[in-house]
Amino acid sequence: SILIIDFGSQVTQLIARRVREAGVYSEIAPFNNAKAAFERMQPKGIILSGGPSSVPDEGSPRAPDIVFESGLPILGICYGQQVMMQQLGGKVESGEHQGGGEFGRAMLNIKENCTLFDGLWSVGDEHQVWMSHGDKVTQLAPGFDVVATSAGAPYGFVADENRKYYGIQFHPEVAHTPGGAKLIAHFAHKVCGLAGDWTMAEFRATKIAEIRAQVGEGRVICGLSGGVDSSVAAILIHEAIGSQLTCVFVDHGLLRMNEREQVEKLFRDHYNIPLIVVDAEQRFMAGLDGVTDPEKKRKFIGGEFINVFEEEAAKIGGADFLAQGTLYPDVIESVSFTGGPSVTIKSHHNVGGLPERMNMQLVEPLRELFKDEVRILGKELGLNDLFVGRHPFPGPGLAIRIPGEVNKERCDILRKADAIYLEEIRNAGLYDKIWQAFAVLLPVRTVGVMGDARTYDSVCALRAVTSTDGMTADIYPFEAAFLSRVSTRIINEVKGINRVVYDYTSKPPGTIEWE
Ligand code: XMP
Repeated sequence: SILIIDFGSQVTQLIARRVREAGVYSEIAPFNNAKAAFERMQPKGIILSGGPSSVPDEGSPRAPDIVFESGLPILGICYGQQVMMQQLGGKVESGEHQGGGEFGRAMLNIKENCTLFDGLWSVGDEHQVWMSHGDKVTQLAPGFDVVATSAGAPYGFVADENRKYYGIQFHPEVAHTPGGAKLIAHFAHKVCGLAGDWTMAEFRATKIAEIRAQVGEGRVICGLSGGVDSSVAAILIHEAIGSQLTCVFVDHGLLRMNEREQVEKLFRDHYNIPLIVVDAEQRFMAGLDGVTDPEKKRKFIGGEFINVFEEEAAKIGGADFLAQGTLYPDVIESVSFTGGPSVTIKSHHNVGGLPERMNMQLVEPLRELFKDEVRILGKELGLNDLFVGRHPFPGPGLAIRIPGEVNKERCDILRKADAIYLEEIRNAGLYDKIWQAFAVLLPVRTVGVMGDARTYDSVCALRAVTSTDGMTADIYPFEAAFLSRVSTRIINEVKGINRVVYDYTSKPPGTIEWE
C-alpha cells in the first residue's frame, strides 16, 4: 500500500484515487497523525501532498521523521516537494520574495532521464502540467538533481535516484496534467515495486474475513435507506455472516414511488436477506402535522427514525452491532487550517447517537471506499447497473422537498410528479449524466386554465444538478423541449399541480435540496 500524507491540499483525495486506479491500495493521513498511520499500514511508498501553508513560515507543517528514516520511496507534490527539500537540507523561498508564483497550465521541459518517468517521457520532451504555487524551491537538498523544469519553476522536477526520492512542483493528480495519472501509477509500480493487483474481488474477500472476525457469534442490525451505500454494506455483511444479520427498513411515508417494493424485492427475493419492513407512515405524518420549519422537520424525522429503529431492535432481542454504509470521504480526517466551528447549514439525518444509546459497536465495511468504488463493489456483489447508479436520496425524504406543511396527500402528489420527471430523464438517456434530479412541491397555489375551467393548484419545481460530491453543484442544462415535455406530462397527469418551473440555482449559493 501507499500512505499519502496530507498537508491540506484541496485535491489530496485525487491522489488517493489515482493510486487506487493503478490497482494499489492507498490511504490518506493528516501530517500530524501520519506516524500512527505509517505504523498501522506498513506502506511500501509515501506521497507527500500539496497544501496551503508556506514552508518558510514558522510553525508550518512538516513530515514526521519516520518518513525519511524508513528508507521507502517518496514522492513529494507541490508543498510536499518543498517540505521534503527543506527537511533534507535544501531551501524554499516564499513567493513574496521572488515575485509571484505559477498558477494554471505550464509546460514542463524534460532535461534528464529519471526512473519515475522512464518509458513515459524522454529527454527533450515538453509536457503540459498544472501548477499552483506561490513559493518555490531555490536550493536543492544534497543528493538531488534537477530532471525537468518549467518557466516559473527551475526546480520543477527533482530526483535523488539513490534514495528513490522525487519532488515535483506540479500537480500530477489533476486532470489538467494529462500524463499525471500514468506518472503516479509508475511511482506505485516501478518505483515502489507494487503489483497493482488490488481489486474489488480481493477487497470483498478481505472484508468478509474481517467482518467474521469482528462479529464472531454476535448479532448485527442494519438500517436500510434504499440507497446504494447501506444496501451494499448489508449485502456484503450478509455474505459474511448470513442470518446473524437483520435488516430494518423504515417506511416513513416519505419515500419515492415504489421505493419500498423495490427494497423488499431486492432483499427478500433476490438475496434472501432477513428484512423487517416497518410501516411507520402514520406516526411520521402525525408528528409532522403542523411542522413547517425545515430544521424542526429534520430533527423530528431523525429522532423518530431512531425511536422506530430502537423498538424493532428490541423486538428481535437486541443486537451487538450496528451496520452502516459510511464512506471514506466521511471518515478522512482532513487537515483544516480554518479552525473554529463551521456553521450548521442543515442537520443531516443519519443514525448517529444510536450506537451509544443502544450499546452497540459499529460495523462499517465501506469506510475505506469512495462512492464509485462502492458502485463497483455493488456490481461485484451482483447488483445491477440500474440499482448501483441510483441518485442520492436524503434520509428525511420527501419531507424536505415539500416546503411548508407535509401530509400524506401532498406526498402522494409529489411522488407522482417526481416519478414522471425521473421516467422522462431515463427515457432521454440523461439519468447517468445527472448527479441528482427530483421534483419539489411548493406551498404556493397559482391560477391556471385547463379546458374551459379555472384551476387554482400547486406549483411544482424541478431540480437537476451535476456534482462530484454534493458539496458544490451546478444546474443541469436541459433542452427546452425536454422541460416542456415533462411540464406537460406532470400538469396533465398529476391532479393538484397546474404549473411547473425549473430551478436555475447552483450550489452555492443554493443548496441541492430545498430545505
Ligand atoms: P444539500 O441540500 O445540503 O445536499 O446541498 C447535499 C447532498 O446531501 C443530500 N442530503 C442528505 N442526505 N441525509 C442524507 O442522507 C440528509 O439529511 C440529507 N440532506 C441532504 C442531498 O440529497 C444531496 O445529495
